[in-house]
Amino acid sequence: MDIDPGFLEFESRLSRPLNLKIPDLQHGGRLRHVLFASQFNLPLLDRLGKVADRIRTIAKSREGHRFLNSLLSHKRAMLYFSQPSTRTFLSFSAACQILGIACNEVRDPATSSESKGESPLDSIRMFSSYFDLVIMRSPVSQFAECCAYMMNELEQEDRRSVPIVNAGSGKDEHPTQALLDMYTIQRAFEFRHERDSSQWSKYDEMRSKYPNVRRGIDHKIIGFCGDLRRGRTMRSLAQLLALHQEMTMIFIAPKHPSLSMPDDLKQLLMDSGVRVLEADSFETPIGGVPVIEQLDCLYMTRIQTEHNSAQDKVDFAAIDFTNYKLTRSLVQRMKEYAAILHPFPRDKEFGEIPPAVDRDPRAHYFRQARNGMWARAALLAHIFDVDGAISDYYEDYTKRKPLAPP
Ligand code: CP
Repeated sequence: MDIDPGFLEFESRLSRPLNLKIPDLQHGGRLRHVLFASQFNLPLLDRLGKVADRIRTIAKSREGHRFLNSLLSHKRAMLYFSQPSTRTFLSFSAACQILGIACNEVRDPATSSESKGESPLDSIRMFSSYFDLVIMRSPVSQFAECCAYMMNELEQEDRRSVPIVNAGSGKDEHPTQALLDMYTIQRAFEFRHERDSSQWSKYDEMRSKYPNVRRGIDHKIIGFCGDLRRGRTMRSLAQLLALHQEMTMIFIAPKHPSLSMPDDLKQLLMDSGVRVLEADSFETPIGGVPVIEQLDCLYMTRIQTEHNSAQDKVDFAAIDFTNYKLTRSLVQRMKEYAAILHPFPRDKEFGEIPPAVDRDPRAHYFRQARNGMWARAALLAHIFDVDGAISDYYEDYTKRKPLAPP
């Protein structure tokens, strides 16, 4: 996609430090546009997690389903995805349906008037004429950000303006993936949910085997493996995990300039108090113990070959990638309560996680994808200020009908 000439108008805002941008993306104490993982803080993540739990509980009954469905039945959303997607597109679409939001989509700009020369910025402005929310994925970094500034200008001019949600932009950010990843990790380490925590009923037994294990994300050792430089999901998630106390992050990737951990992110994490370590493989000893045996959580990623340069192709042929693939025997050496996540898609040819691992109780990646629907529904409820109504309904609902944990 060519850079839209309209970007130039926003250049001074795009080049600001992140902390100066955040206030432009809020409204009345709520997120209005969702562009960056760093817009979420721990209290907000906690609130969104609770709302997601409540939605998934309420949605189980027909009556609850009808209530949720009535909340935003006066709203319409445009899903504008000019990059391929399965999970993000479908989970946003399902989240909208849960809350009664009607959806429409443009998944291939070649089928829109962009094929006649219309600029993507004009497309977004047109969507805002017909819809109340634009959820967008773009190969162009900062395009969603430009759209948010355009909406802010329209609002200032008292014209029609809608929230923009970044569903993945270029190589930089995938904030709602980070939101669902945090929700998944939080639930795994609560050890309370039968379906989400492999050892949920065995917390005391785990404590006897692993005396240092505690509920919650603080003090955990998180491994990230694979394509760490070009992976926008890893970049967004690491920043949110860094909000927790006493975190250790171990980055496992080939030492190659297209794959290894970027220095700016490393510095950002260290400045946040994270203990940052790098390893060549799962067998690299840290304090005398192989990495794989130390991890509380392992975040696997796909090698994004679609971004390879000609030189990358030559260089990668010389790398032993078996060091960056899980096997059943590696997984069996992990802590019993450890959680394995992957944003998916996984690469069936490369095989960073073979299907043989899927049945292991440590494999959380399918429930992680389903959690995306609940976490995104909670985010939409927050944006449109119906999360309070959901909590009130939940209180009343659980009084009438005592429930097992969601
Ligand atoms: N994790 C993720 O973004 O998946 P999709 O590309 O299928 O949306």
